[in-house]
Amino acid sequence: MAIGIDKLDFYAPNFFVSMDDLAVARDTDPNKFKIGIGQSKMAVNPVSQDIISMGVNAAQDILSEDDKENIDMVVVATESGIDHSKAAAIEIHDLLQIQPFARCIEMKEACYSATAAIQLGKDFLSNRPGKKVLVIASDIARYGLNSGGEPTQGAGAIAILLSHNPRIMELNDDSLSYTTNVYDFWRPTSERYPVVDGKLSKDAYIESFNTAWNEYAKRTGHEVKDFESFCFHVPFTKMGEKAFKTILNENVEDSIKNRLMEAYQDSVLLNRDVGNVYTGSLYLSLISLLENHEFNAGEKVCLFSYGSGAVCEIFSGSIVSGYEAELNKEKHSDMLDSREQLSVEEYETFFTRFDNQEFDFERELKGDPYSKVYLSNIEDHIRTYKTEQ
Ligand code: HMG
Repeated sequence: MAIGIDKLDFYAPNFFVSMDDLAVARDTDPNKFKIGIGQSKMAVNPVSQDIISMGVNAAQDILSEDDKENIDMVVVATESGIDHSKAAAIEIHDLLQIQPFARCIEMKEACYSATAAIQLGKDFLSNRPGKKVLVIASDIARYGLNSGGEPTQGAGAIAILLSHNPRIMELNDDSLSYTTNVYDFWRPTSERYPVVDGKLSKDAYIESFNTAWNEYAKRTGHEVKDFESFCFHVPFTKMGEKAFKTILNENVEDSIKNRLMEAYQDSVLLNRDVGNVYTGSLYLSLISLLENHEFNAGEKVCLFSYGSGAVCEIFSGSIVSGYEAELNKEKHSDMLDSREQLSVEEYETFFTRFDNQEFDFERELKGDPYSKVYLSNIEDHIRTYKTEQ
């Protein structure tokens, strides 16, 4: 029986900084950020949006009462964890009022873990007809003010509902994982920001993609031309493009190359305006692709998931007839268009307030119609969330 993505949504916080402004403030040519890295804006989260509230805000509009009765597992994928022990999935399960006899866990492996969560969910459902799994990928990408990674920051959450007979994408049984031990990007528990070797991270991403693709192609017999499009983990939009071009070689016809590169541009439109959302980046890109590219039922998408450290996976999904009806394109463009633009000075204040956990509700909550849930207090290390009526 087919198992896959039945519903899909995302939430990005209500504030952003433009790459033009950031480049000027950092005494850099704006084209480096806009063309060289390929980003236009980056989402900035207020203190009141943590990985839990963002995860709930991503899922709240897609879950029906029937879904909540039948979700037997909630998995949160994140590398912005707020507790070494308690899973963020427990709070999310509670805030979404999902039936109590569910398994709730949190998963970690840099930006890759949402894919591990999806594969776990797919296996979990294989002998549970009628049941569903909710996967939340929620992260706040921060490298520090004035750091090399600063233009590749972002924040947001993706909600993915897995079910039998899915309405958006069937997941095929062809996944291939590849693990290599590399210190390209990691987040020691003692550090506020990640430790990054920028150049090594770009090389490791491309090496992982090439090795995994060659093995995937060998094992499955699939060729580039078999896919209507490819979808990548997008730390910044130039990264996936650079990796993709390495396999669009002389063996691939020009017409196919052009079609695939056009589809790639469709797949990064949202990422360009949100920034890196770590675990959710591949799935934000999938939303962007589905909303902006036309598919026929049965056409296949090849997905490349990458998490520094490093683990990657290549797998594919087949488009389901009528998938368009399950998308929320208008809501997403309104959510991004209605964000408040911060000056670089204001963004720096937000950034520092986040580090010091200083709330400013008046400013943070005003005018965010897409946030029904927010973090309202932390006392004795217990987080309290409020729901807007
Ligand atoms: P940098 O060193 O400041 O920039 O940091 P650069 O010198 O590498 O320049 C970037 C590109 O802009 C280059 O193009 C320049 O030529 C070009 P490339 O050589 O790569 O093709 N450029 C210009 N283009 C047009 N006009 C100009 C101009 N000037 C320069 N005037 C870096 C860039 C990405 C390394 C940095 O932002 C960083 O460290 N980011 C964080 C790490 C990262 O995102 N790595 C990506 C791969 S690892 C990954 O995806 C995993 C991750 O998501 C984490 C996880 O898994 O958990 C990060």
